[in-house]
Amino acid sequence: MTAVIETRALTKSYGSVHALDGLTLSIPRGGVYGVLGPNGAGKSTLFRTLLGLIRPTSGEALVMGGKIGDVAASRRMGSMIETPRFPPYMTARQVLTWLSQAHGLKADTAKVSRWLERVGLTEAADRKVRGFSVGMLQRLGVAIALITEPELVILDEPTSGMDPPGIQEMRALIRSLADREGITVILASHQLLEVQRVCDRVAIMNKGRLVREGAVSELTASGERLRLNVSPLASAMGVLGDRGVLEGEAIVAAVKRGEAPALIRALVEKGVDVTEARWVGADLESVFMSETGSIQTAESIHAD
Ligand SMILES: Nc1ncnc2c1ncn2[C@@H]1O[C@H](COP(=O)(O)OP(=O)(O)OP(=O)(O)O)[C@@H](O)[C@H]1O
Ligand SMILES: [Mg+2]
Repeated sequence: MTAVIETRALTKSYGSVHALDGLTLSIPRGGVYGVLGPNGAGKSTLFRTLLGLIRPTSGEALVMGGKIGDVAASRRMGSMIETPRFPPYMTARQVLTWLSQAHGLKADTAKVSRWLERVGLTEAADRKVRGFSVGMLQRLGVAIALITEPELVILDEPTSGMDPPGIQEMRALIRSLADREGITVILASHQLLEVQRVCDRVAIMNKGRLVREGAVSELTASGERLRLNVSPLASAMGVLGDRGVLEGEAIVAAVKRGEAPALIRALVEKGVDVTEARWVGADLESVFMSETGSIQTAESIHAD
């Protein structure tokens, strides 16, 4: 597994605030990687540091195999950090043309049009960005990040301010970048359901530190429980003991996959009718809450 990003004890302090506090992280090449964390966790600081926009206080990072700021490595990256701003008197098409040329690309009107279309800005292409909504600015920012055809793209909250169809389009675009074009996408987002849908792996940060990292499927499987529709409930609860919790008409059992057949046999032997038994995964939101907050979710309470 080659890494596009490798950080070791990366630290960025602003006075007494440790925006990054000894962060050690490895982001593999390929796929979509989510960086999650509450406000102020250090996500944007991490991205700015990796892009060479700010200097770390201590620690190291390798980006596409090069040191931070390495020109050859930087050329293979695109990025959008938070909601971008552009000269208000320019149109989206002019901004994209101007910035692609600033990156050393030849004037290519067809390519500019193609990218405006891919981010859903065809109709607004010749309007001045002065009147653009936050979501439209984000779309333009994404087009700018991608027009240089980078191998790695870093998108800081690409869907913040977007309407639901826009979020869906962005999800499809991000997946196709990874799946069809082989681009590694790193994104920060607070929309955990979106992250769960689009990301292959995630890092959860809190207070500048890494608190959890892994494949989305692994993180959500770890809180997996067995949801049972059974009757009578009382007899079933008798079999389950403190492994079972009543949720409405169903019982949710904190058991491992391997224990399920024996459990169901035990229920049947006690005269319990099992009409449905299915696995329910923990969603990313509950993993996030239990890793970063003091809020105890049903999952974290029942997980052990
Ligand atoms: N230029 C700066 N000067 C002082 N403190 C800063 C600066 N930039 C960031 N910080 C602080 O560093 C911490 C991390 O901020 P950062 O913007 O990286 O968080 P984030 O995870 O991107 O949050 P959000 O989800 O709100 O975007 C915060 O406490 C923030 O106030
Ligand atoms: Mg941020």
